[in-house]
Order: sequence, then C-alpha cells, then structure tokens
Amino acid sequence: SSLLRSVKTLARPTTARAYSVDSVPSRKVTVLGAAGGIGQPLSLLMKLNPLVSQLALYDIGGTPGVAADVSHINSRSEVAGYMGDDQLGLALEGSDVVIIPAGVPRKPGMTRDDLFNINAGIVKSLCTAIAKYCPHAIVNMISNPVNSTVPIAAEVFKKAGIYDEKKLFGVTTLDVVRAKTFYAGKANVNVAEVNVPVVGGHAGVTILPLFSQATPKANLSQEDIQALTKRTQDGGTEVVEAKAGKGSATLSMAYAGAIFADACLKGLNGVPDVVECSYVQSTITELPFFASKVRLGKNGVEEVLGLGPLSDYEKEGLEKLKPELKSSIEKGIEFAKKN
Ligand code: NAI
Repeated sequence: SSLLRSVKTLARPTTARAYSVDSVPSRKVTVLGAAGGIGQPLSLLMKLNPLVSQLALYDIGGTPGVAADVSHINSRSEVAGYMGDDQLGLALEGSDVVIIPAGVPRKPGMTRDDLFNINAGIVKSLCTAIAKYCPHAIVNMISNPVNSTVPIAAEVFKKAGIYDEKKLFGVTTLDVVRAKTFYAGKANVNVAEVNVPVVGGHAGVTILPLFSQATPKANLSQEDIQALTKRTQDGGTEVVEAKAGKGSATLSMAYAGAIFADACLKGLNGVPDVVECSYVQSTITELPFFASKVRLGKNGVEEVLGLGPLSDYEKEGLEKLKPELKSSIEKGIEFAKKN
C-alpha cells in the first residue's frame, strides 16, 4: 500500500542515520574503583558516551548496584559490574581504555603525598592485572599522587615486559578545567571558548598553568595572573576543605576524567587533531615524566608537544617545580622497585 511505501521510504534514511553506530568501532572501557566518589559519576558519564560499546565497572565492593543502576540508561554501551580480585581479569579482558580512580582521597590537612603508601600499593596491584589481562590498553591514571602513581605504573609494566610509553597517561584534565573556569571568571570571557594549557605535574606548585598562552586573550595584571595560578594549584585543597572531611573533588573530577577518556577514544578511532594536556613520559624537560599538551592518536600518544613561549613568571615556576616533581617521580620508581 502507499502507506507502507511511505513508511519504508521514511524508515530507510532514518534508520541509516540513527543506527550509524555500526560505523563507530566497538570500544570497551573499564573503570577501576567504579563504586567510589569519582567512580560513580564517572561511570555515569562514560555510559553517556556514544563511543563506548562495553562498560566494565570494577571495585572491591558495591559494583553490582552501580552497574545495575547505570545499565538502565538507554545509551549504546552494555554495562557489567565486577567485584573482588577474582573478577578483575574479566573486567579488564579486551579493554581498550582503563580508567583508574581507585584509592583513598585526601582529607583536610593531608597532602597528595600523604596518600602515597596506600594508593601506591593499590595502583601497583591493579597495573599488574592490566599487564596480564589487557596489556595493550590505554591507561588513564587518576589515583593520587599522580606525579608518583604514573611512574609506578610504568615500572610495573616494564617489569612485565609490556610497557608502552604511548599508552600511559596521568589525568591532569581537572587542572585544565579549573584553570579555564577561573580564567574565564577573571577575564570576563565566555568560558566555553577558553583554552589554557597546564603543564608540569599534578600537585601544588608542580601544577603550572600557562596563562600567557590563554585564549581568548585578556589583559590581566601580573597580580591577577599570580592569584589565578595559586587558585589553580590549590583547587583541590579548596574542595577538600569545603567538603570538611568528606573527601576531595569527585564531580568535577568525574567530568574531567570523562573528557580525557573521550579524547583517548577519539584518538583511537582516528579523529584528527585531538590535543589534551596530560602527564606522560616526556623529553621536553630533563624530567622523565611531565605534563604538557599531547596529540592523541590510534596508538595513544601521537606527539608530546612542547611548552611554547613562557612568560618570565612561568619560567620561574617551571624551575621551581622541577625539584619537587623529580623527587615524586623518584619516590614512585623506588616504591615499585622495592615492593
Ligand atoms: P573514594 O574513596 O570515594 O573511592 C575510591 C574507590 O576505590 C572506592 O570505591 C574503593 O572501594 C575503591 N578501591 C580501593 N581499593 C581498590 C582496589 N584495590 N581495586 C579497585 N577499587 C579499589 O575516593 P575518590 O574521591 O573517588 O578518589 C579516588 C582517587 O582519585 C584518590 O586517590 C584521589 O586522591 C584521586 N583524585 C584524583 C584527582 C585528579 O585530578 N587526578 C582529583 C581528585 C581525586
């Protein structure tokens, strides 16, 4: 009938477009620590990402509930929850991107380094499992202190003979997110258009926002730049204190983690010119790990981009951060070698 014909002609182009997910590659993403303060909203955001076809949520407890809840959302990915050591392998098998927000967060008065011993052990055991079950996966390290946990992961992967420096990332996106927000507020520009590279590391003075390269350009005073720099460096502490003993940044971190994982997936899928700041193995300074702009591609890091022109204030900040970052890197390497 003519009704059937018109339904058919309507249906053809619509289905072709609506179900074009066929052309989007299958990608499995695993979240380790998925029941935590960051893990839960991050799992939600990854469930909303159309580039994900399989979402594996792992934690030492609580994941069946988080997975059941998230799985009811009518988006592309299939969700599964995994709990406890004996299910870690299943959670990781076939994974393209593993995001690690497992560990303990900071409480008031604690520095990121105070977390070291607990989180270093957790990261080491999770990375040992990654080396075994998905050695070619891209790893997004969120667990703090990132300045040390990334070198720990590298050592674990080297020991297992599978280290690929192109696939290991410390997630510093939250520093960029904060720098953008604070800059837009001060410069009175549209926050959605703002770009600010943040380099160095991911703790206190090792976080170096390059406001001299911020766009759109604004004529901020040196005083303003210094206040913005300090606020970006202390952004984590601002949240820790406001939460008064109930943990550190979780919601903004989940957002930042989702942005970075999305960039990794786009890179894997061959989208050109995907650039994000991240803490990676690097030769742009004398330090073996350093955060800077990184071009992402089909194999992870395509290119570690240089620092660009720095202001005198930024040059000073760069020299100041090096000793602390160096010792955090060494602390991580030493931990991995000893334990
Ligand atoms: P949380 O305590 O709320 O959640 C951590 C989760 O990790 C818990 O569900 C816990 O059961 C799980 N966990 C512990 N050991 C595990 C193991 N061996 N395997 C799998 N899961 C395990 O903590 P929150 O607030 O989610 O923070 C997590 C980590 O992220 C902390 O290390 C924190 O310092 C870090 N963080 C990093 C930021 C960044 O910018 N990179 C920003 C904010 C926090």
